Amino acid sequence: GKGLFTYDPGFVSTAACESAITYIDGGKGVLLHGGYPIEQLAENSDYLEVCFLLLNGELPTPEQKQTFVNTVKNHTMVHEQMNHFFNGFRRDAHPMAIMVAVVGALSAFYHDSLDIDDAHHREVCAYRLIAKMPTIAAMCYKYSIGQPFQYPRNDLEYADNFLQMMFGNPCQDYVTNPILAKAMDKIFLLHADHEQNASTSTVRLAGSSGANPFACIASGIAALWGPAHGGANEAVLAMLEEIGDESNIEEFIKRAKDPEDSFRLMGFGHRVYRNFDPRAKVMKQTCDEVLAELGIENDPFLKIAKRLEEIALEDEYFVERKLYPNVDFYSGIILKAIGIPTNMFTVIFALSRTIGWISHWSEFHSSPNKIGRPRQLYTGPTKRDYPTK
Ligand code: SDX
Repeated sequence: GKGLFTYDPGFVSTAACESAITYIDGGKGVLLHGGYPIEQLAENSDYLEVCFLLLNGELPTPEQKQTFVNTVKNHTMVHEQMNHFFNGFRRDAHPMAIMVAVVGALSAFYHDSLDIDDAHHREVCAYRLIAKMPTIAAMCYKYSIGQPFQYPRNDLEYADNFLQMMFGNPCQDYVTNPILAKAMDKIFLLHADHEQNASTSTVRLAGSSGANPFACIASGIAALWGPAHGGANEAVLAMLEEIGDESNIEEFIKRAKDPEDSFRLMGFGHRVYRNFDPRAKVMKQTCDEVLAELGIENDPFLKIAKRLEEIALEDEYFVERKLYPNVDFYSGIILKAIGIPTNMFTVIFALSRTIGWISHWSEFHSSPNKIGRPRQLYTGPTKRDYPTK
């Protein structure tokens, strides 16, 4: 290949595009952002620093980091008129339905940075999206529970500000819980980007037509929503709830292996990884740490999840198919411990992945490009004439 890695010719022919943002080796369970292993970023970095890295290809200097954080803080509010947009939804609307609509509508409010060929416009769009997604996500939640929207606050850091918008209210001062804020930031970081997954490829394809960045991100949110992709974290919690007790695990493992049964083990398997998803390892460790710090290490869902993983990893069906836990297997347990309701799990994934989407969108538009046009293997009838009367 052109870069520092070499690929076999068979792989090159299947590649959808070239990108310098993220590298995955599915066989070895390797994930690099700008060359930095996800394990090291999770240990030493934070979400906004990884946002800078994904957008610029380099880690920021301390000065660049501070400027980036301040710039994001200056874009966290949404146009006040967007509040009315929510009123068109029933209170019980799924927050993802609201998010895909509201984000798609952003181009109607922010039309002063839509010149996709202008690098500065692309940068401003990235800032706006990184900054506004937590605000919009929290608004989706507040609307669903009938509480007033909370404004963002510049005295709080990114993840803590999101939790304040989610759980703060006008009746009492918001009290930061550093454990939860750190766990939230880790969740954002671990979901930031993942090469050409279904939603990111959707954003690149939508971007290739010249559609505005907000519409492209909305297409990514729509693609992410499915249970085979970003909807899996919500599906994992539903699965653990359905299992209910460790004694029922064998029955669900049996169902997951039955070709006649559509049930699959949520949070297991991956299109690329044929080894542990490196994010899942960090997520499991974070899960242990957060629940222990919160004094809920005996959370029943965590015990079922760990036992399920143990059994599946020894079962030949999963071993021979190289099925391992993925990023979604433990994330839901952490989100639940933070107090996030399950119908907001995929919204959190979309919030986190926005930086990946906009970085790939921006990379696509930063060099000469053509509209994407995947081809097909036609399996329909050959040419035939219309029957004459
Ligand atoms: C994400 O692409 C990305 O990078 C996505 C993502 C990202 O960051 O953007 O990593 C995020 O989407 C993670 C995946 C979340 N989805 C789930 O956890 C849902 C459960 N997982 C599956 O639906 C499935 O594993 C997929 C969708 C992830 C992959 O599906 P594939 O491509 O069919 O998996 P495969 O080709 O590896 O399957 C091989 C075999 C098949 O059986 P056989 O036909 O060989 O008999 O394994 C079976 C599959 O049926 N299989 C499973 C299984 N996953 C695959 N059987 C039971 N349970 C599972 N979870």
